[in-house]
Amino acid sequence: MEPLPLTPPVFSILSALVEERTGLHHGLDKRDLLAERASSRALERGLDSLLDYYYLLRYDDPDGGELQQLVEALVVQETFLFRELDQLEVAADLLAERARAAGGARAWSAACATGEEPLSLAMLLAARGALDRVELVATDVSERALARAREGRYGPRALRAAPPRALDPWVERAGDRLVVRRELIERVRWGRLNLLDAEGRRALGRFDVILCRNVLIYFADATARGVVQGLVDRLAPDGALFVGVSESLLRLRLPLECVERGGVFYYRGARP
Ligand SMILES: C[S@@+](CC[C@H](N)C(=O)[O-])C[C@H]1O[C@@H](n2cnc3c(N)ncnc32)[C@H](O)[C@@H]1O
Repeated sequence: MEPLPLTPPVFSILSALVEERTGLHHGLDKRDLLAERASSRALERGLDSLLDYYYLLRYDDPDGGELQQLVEALVVQETFLFRELDQLEVAADLLAERARAAGGARAWSAACATGEEPLSLAMLLAARGALDRVELVATDVSERALARAREGRYGPRALRAAPPRALDPWVERAGDRLVVRRELIERVRWGRLNLLDAEGRRALGRFDVILCRNVLIYFADATARGVVQGLVDRLAPDGALFVGVSESLLRLRLPLECVERGGVFYYRGARP
């Protein structure tokens, strides 16, 4: 399919609308990607101009259904089981300690994509005998990703970093594919949440561990700052926020403390 023309003014208003609603930042380097994905949605809706598509999104999409379709086409859902394993081990240790001390703990995977991240954490908690005492919440903006997460069927790409000992009790293998046991999938409370939705974030309550890994890279700094502050506000006292290993929050100049444990870094709200 040949993308529809995306003139500079339409690129500017369309990318601003997507960013305002979802945080996803499309600079000039992502212009062709936006043109391609928006074109396929516009054509699907019987429109032959991206300006008309912009008007549809802005003024004729009362329930946000079309915006959601566009988001589904734009988001990157790259993830795999036990990604950045050292971080997950530390997160599991913190949760197990908190659960032992307080009788329970809560964790939130805030951009869980197709589910590999929270399911890996669940397996690591089970290996520590702490799964029963930790409530796991997993959210993403993509309905399509969540539908796949709830199925728990993965191919070889999801398995590239999987340590067999943690994995084996929880999966059935069929050739190079695997199916996660329903019991584990049902331990996680899955839901759709846009990270920009302050009300939705608050409704989830407070957490001892929040994972928000490999998503802030798609946001401009101003958006990331608002989201990170919103997440820190959801941390229980002494709670820990993990971002991807290649993402540093120091440039955001927020009142955060960076904590090191076993070579892994995480953040918590600065103490007064
Ligand atoms: C690259 S994946 C990261 C998955 C996992 N956290 C990991 O590190 O492997 C990024 C995820 O962020 C989600 N995402 C993007 N914008 C979002 C938003 N505004 N609110 C919630 N999730 C969002 C995408 O749908 C995608 O599933």
